[in-house]
Amino acid sequence: MGNTVIICGRDADKLATAARETGAQAIAGDVTRAEDQDRILSDIQAAHGRLDLLVNNAGIFLAYDFAADPDALQKIEREIAINATAPLTLTRRALPLLQMSAQPGVLFIGSGVAFVASPGTPVYSGTKALIHHCAQTLRHQLKPHGIAVFEALPPVVDTDMATVLKSDNFKKMKPADLVRDILDGVRRDRTEMLLGQSRQIKWMSRIAPAFLFRQFAKTEFH
Ligand SMILES: NC(=O)c1ccc[n+]([C@@H]2O[C@H](COP(=O)([O-])OP(=O)(O)OC[C@H]3O[C@@H](n4cnc5c(N)ncnc54)[C@H](OP(=O)(O)O)[C@@H]3O)[C@@H](O)[C@H]2O)c1
Repeated sequence: MGNTVIICGRDADKLATAARETGAQAIAGDVTRAEDQDRILSDIQAAHGRLDLLVNNAGIFLAYDFAADPDALQKIEREIAINATAPLTLTRRALPLLQMSAQPGVLFIGSGVAFVASPGTPVYSGTKALIHHCAQTLRHQLKPHGIAVFEALPPVVDTDMATVLKSDNFKKMKPADLVRDILDGVRRDRTEMLLGQSRQIKWMSRIAPAFLFRQFAKTEFH
């Protein structure tokens, strides 16, 4: 679409490779750290003077036994910090830079599991449910500031994250197809994008929530 794309991540080598392969600019950083959020935004301010679209994409997906896992405490805090707190604090910090754009937007990458609790991953779906609610409240609150709030809710996508799923009964969406659909949605001003099987998950959660929960309870993980 002719935009300058700036990508972030913690692993500087992985980030440099991705930047080389895609032609994106890269800024290494951990979005859970306030100082990294400030540095990422001030680097963008210095180089570009504005931010048109903030994409809150970083996320982790942890399958574990809440009672038996010795690292459960650390996992609970990490998953909430990356999936829930960081997108909100980064969005709050980015507001002045977004307001330098003529048509600013924030895009949250949520998930279809915002609509169903998935027992094998005790915290993940809760973080996505929180983002789903916050996307709606921020859409309302940021409208007077001229900032559009989008949320994309993908189904299972064929990325590193999904390799933890043992069950092959999920139809994995190709990342390129997902990105195409999301960009198309942003272009058409579709603020809530239910992608692939997420549409069925949303409606099943209304019509047959217990059945849907039982289906997700069968998911097996490596
Ligand atoms: N894959 C799926 O089936 C699926 C389905 C629905 C929704 N989603 C959502 O889609 C988003 C992207 O997931 P993915 O499938 O691409 O996962 P992925 O393959 O595991 O990639 C996650 C990305 O997030 C970055 N990241 C993680 N923690 C970070 C942090 N603290 N600071 C900065 N960057 C961080 C990682 O880079 P570094 O490790 O270098 O930091 C990596 O580039 C997530 O929000 C996920 O919840 C995924």
